[in-house]
Amino acid sequence: MGATKTSGVRPERDAYGQEIWNCYKGNSTYEVVERDDGLIDLGTAQPYFREFDHWATAEREAITWARGRVLDVGAGAGRVALYLQPRGHEVLSIDNSPLAVKVAKLRGAKQARVLDARKIGTLRGPSDTTLFDSALFDTIVMYGNNFGLFGGTAQGQRMLATMHRITSAEAKIIGSATDPYQTDDPLHREYQRRNRRRGRMSGQLRLRIRYRQYCGDWFDYLLASVEEVEKMVKGTGWKIGEVVQQPGPGYVVILVKA
Ligand SMILES: C[S@@+](CC[C@H](N)C(=O)[O-])C[C@H]1O[C@@H](n2cnc3c(N)ncnc32)[C@H](O)[C@@H]1O
Repeated sequence: MGATKTSGVRPERDAYGQEIWNCYKGNSTYEVVERDDGLIDLGTAQPYFREFDHWATAEREAITWARGRVLDVGAGAGRVALYLQPRGHEVLSIDNSPLAVKVAKLRGAKQARVLDARKIGTLRGPSDTTLFDSALFDTIVMYGNNFGLFGGTAQGQRMLATMHRITSAEAKIIGSATDPYQTDDPLHREYQRRNRRRGRMSGQLRLRIRYRQYCGDWFDYLLASVEEVEKMVKGTGWKIGEVVQQPGPGYVVILVKA
């Protein structure tokens, strides 16, 4: 397995971090995203270095919901912290990629640490960080389609329950998501049917990232429609407060405490 003691990926498995590092150094970069049916696609980390004015419209609009202490989950190069810190927010950026955390810090994220999103339950406690001694978070941000990190129903519900525990009464989760049904591609349609036959959510993708000689571990990544999000959050202490749509399959969902 690729996990280390700190729940981060091992350096030799940190394909995404290597890409972020090269992007940070000014190189143009592309990663190969490999799905478990053999499909490969190209992606790039470059959008995650963009200034606010160039963010997706839904992400720009939804970030105005951020309040108080913020936990940025899967923070990448730290663009959310760089936007929110000057606006008076204390932000803790977490990412399971050691190199992403290094880049986020170099770019000015004040509090960034290597942590797997599935381990955020360990965040409370006085020995934690200087900014967040025993404090609850008021906002959790999951941008760059990081709603996908919920992975699927069971893992998602566990993470949502933990998020409920480590957040204040008025807290919100602001997550960007993708509706898997807005596609005509027969390969995606068939993958979704195969998922349903196997009892998985239609948009539950099994992926791994390759970059240059690096290859990450396989992980589940969830694409979900608004209706599926509504179903998934039921019973976790959260409900949909707002959906910010934009052209195309991407949208931002804001969860509030039920
Ligand atoms: C698409 S990037 C988005 C970065 C950032 N949220 C943004 O919008 O600019 C996804 C990030 O999530 C991180 N990530 C993936 N799986 C993770 C996990 N299980 N726990 C924490 N971070 C994770 C990756 O290392 C990567 O930096």
